[in-house]
Amino acid sequence: MNSLSLPPHLNHLAIIMDGNGRWAELRGRDRAFGHIRGARVAKETIETCAKLGLKQLTLYTFSTENWARPKSEVSFLMLLLGRHLRKERANLVRNNIRFSVIGQIDRLPQAVRDEIDKTIQDTKACSGMNLTFALSYGGRQEIAEAARVLAREVAAGVLRPEEITEAAITQRLQTRKMADPDLILRTSGEYRLSNFMLWQAAYSELFISETLWPDFGEKTLEEAFSHFAGCERRFGKTTAQIKEPTRLGLVQ
Ligand code: FPP
Repeated sequence: MNSLSLPPHLNHLAIIMDGNGRWAELRGRDRAFGHIRGARVAKETIETCAKLGLKQLTLYTFSTENWARPKSEVSFLMLLLGRHLRKERANLVRNNIRFSVIGQIDRLPQAVRDEIDKTIQDTKACSGMNLTFALSYGGRQEIAEAARVLAREVAAGVLRPEEITEAAITQRLQTRKMADPDLILRTSGEYRLSNFMLWQAAYSELFISETLWPDFGEKTLEEAFSHFAGCERRFGKTTAQIKEPTRLGLVQ
């Protein structure tokens, strides 16, 4: 890590790690080989971001749609995930990283859930970077679940329909404790969100890299940071409002 530094206002970085399969196939190897390399790159990325002082890193590690992959690949990914958590737990604590998960965790094998619980437990006093794995995660499913919670509250008479505001929905999402991602980075060149943080991505900056995830490293991270540093985050306002909020009477 030489000149790499976090750009101002980048608090939450979310990464769609894509391209393990293609990376392996390009080398005439099976997909598992790509996932193994992908897990190693995830570890390095986590440690780099923690050292840089990032507040929140979210990694899209397994989507609800990934359950439809061949059974053997799903089993391998679950095995790798469990092994990764078991091996990395102590390093997370050493690096003061607090671990959490979002997604339909009850769909994961019990052995993986046990590793998740232990990792959450062991890192709960850590006060550095928050690391979240999105596992068996889908943005639409998350929003549907929040809608069910709200509907039950209305049916029970504890919430009025008029009280279903954006904030009320945000409060019922699994991400309720974190700020929205400032930057969503996707590897391997595809321009889509693939059901990732659909509600939370409303004003996220997007950076798509052609790099396949197993080749990801500080060079691509630097490109993403420099893209983010050049973004003017207007949140629907005009440039003048952002640059001169006092003169325009927007700030008291
Ligand atoms: C891989 O690209 C993407 C995933 C299945 C999710 C990310 C998983 C990893 C990085 C490996 C495990 C990580 C940890 C932290 C244990 P792909 O298989 O969709 O590649 P393709 O689009 O080239 O087929």
